[in-house]
Amino acid sequence: MKKRALITGVNGMDGSHLSDFLLDKEYEVFGLERRSSVKNRTNTSHLEGKVRFLTGDLSDQNSLLRALKESNPDEVYNLGAQSFVGESWNTPEQTSDVTGLGALRMLEAIREYGKEIKFYQASTSEMFGRMVENPAKETTPFYPRSPYGVSKLYAHWITKNYRESYDMFNVSGILFNHESERRGHEFVTRKITDGVARIFLGLSDQIALGNLDSRRDWGYSPDYVEAMWMMLQLEDPDDYIIATGECHSIREFLDVAFNHVGIENWSKHVVQDPRYMRPAEVDVLRGDYGKAKNDFGWSPSTSFENLVKKMLDNDIRLLKKEKN
Ligand code: NAP
Ligand code: GDD
Repeated sequence: MKKRALITGVNGMDGSHLSDFLLDKEYEVFGLERRSSVKNRTNTSHLEGKVRFLTGDLSDQNSLLRALKESNPDEVYNLGAQSFVGESWNTPEQTSDVTGLGALRMLEAIREYGKEIKFYQASTSEMFGRMVENPAKETTPFYPRSPYGVSKLYAHWITKNYRESYDMFNVSGILFNHESERRGHEFVTRKITDGVARIFLGLSDQIALGNLDSRRDWGYSPDYVEAMWMMLQLEDPDDYIIATGECHSIREFLDVAFNHVGIENWSKHVVQDPRYMRPAEVDVLRGDYGKAKNDFGWSPSTSFENLVKKMLDNDIRLLKKEKN
């Protein structure tokens, strides 16, 4: 019998890579998507006919129960969220509802449905925020710095609490930043690779950015979705950090990207725009993935330089196609 998985946030970056991964493993994959006036399947157009799309919303309790009944999953991956940190100051209530309470609603739906289902919660390094220990470990105290980080912390604790209260197989994967060719355009990495590709092709001259000094531990999404699956195959549920252990500044990201297209001095191409500064910044994030390596043998396989180059080459290819 094929295993069945339900993924919330299926059209997002991770949701689409996880679908690819699970289909390769011969899963039947169901994807929860919310209704929108214009279909948003840029990342999943290649999956039409392979993934079964279900309509539902993490802010709507009954729609989640209905999705469980329709998919009858063995595993649920809760990747759906208002995932953009900057936006969470504009819509803190909606962010808390979907990103925080959404996890509670899915856990309640699983309890109501009554089957033993393994549950993965997409937790985040943003919960460490102003890091009190570098690199962060699973035991490091949390200090979130945005409504998004606070919401995710609620989701993390309710996942753990339901595991302890009801003996559910719940895992919280604390993933540090990860990117890919499918990253949304508002996130800094994709904004840079798209911007550099445009400058290289003569379509634009400048990129407007915010804080260039923050540092992130950037990995590659396809490596990270494999870790999600590995966590659900463990004997006992637990929480794990997934990271590379390295961190780089936005300036270093710009260096690698511009150098890749032969531009050494990029300063005239980058302007700082106060619109992209945040009310409270997370200056640095770096994680220790030692527990994941030890317990299930996971380690990252894509270097920082390769990640930047892959994203940039893809954006150049897409823009050339668009131009033609
Ligand atoms: P993403 O590309 O922004 O995808 C998020 C998905 O959630 C989108 O498909 C979005 O659908 C969906 N969604 C938003 N609101 C929803 C709602 N009310 N009901 C149902 N679905 C909803 O994010 P990602 O980068 O793939 O990340 C996946 C998850 O991992 C997120 O929970 C994120 O917070 C978390 N995470 C990400 C990273 C990272 O660096 N990428 C690190 C740690 C944790 P629409 O297309 O309709 O908006
Ligand atoms: N988005 C954006 N746009 N960020 C900018 C810009 C800009 O123009 N200029 C500088 N930055 C800085 C931000 O201030 C932040 O310090 C850093 O670049 C990274 O910003 P994002 O790419 O938006 O990602 P994030 O780190 O805030 O959040 C991502 O990673 C989290 C895990 O740590 C998201 O994927 C979250 O969903 C995820 O939980």
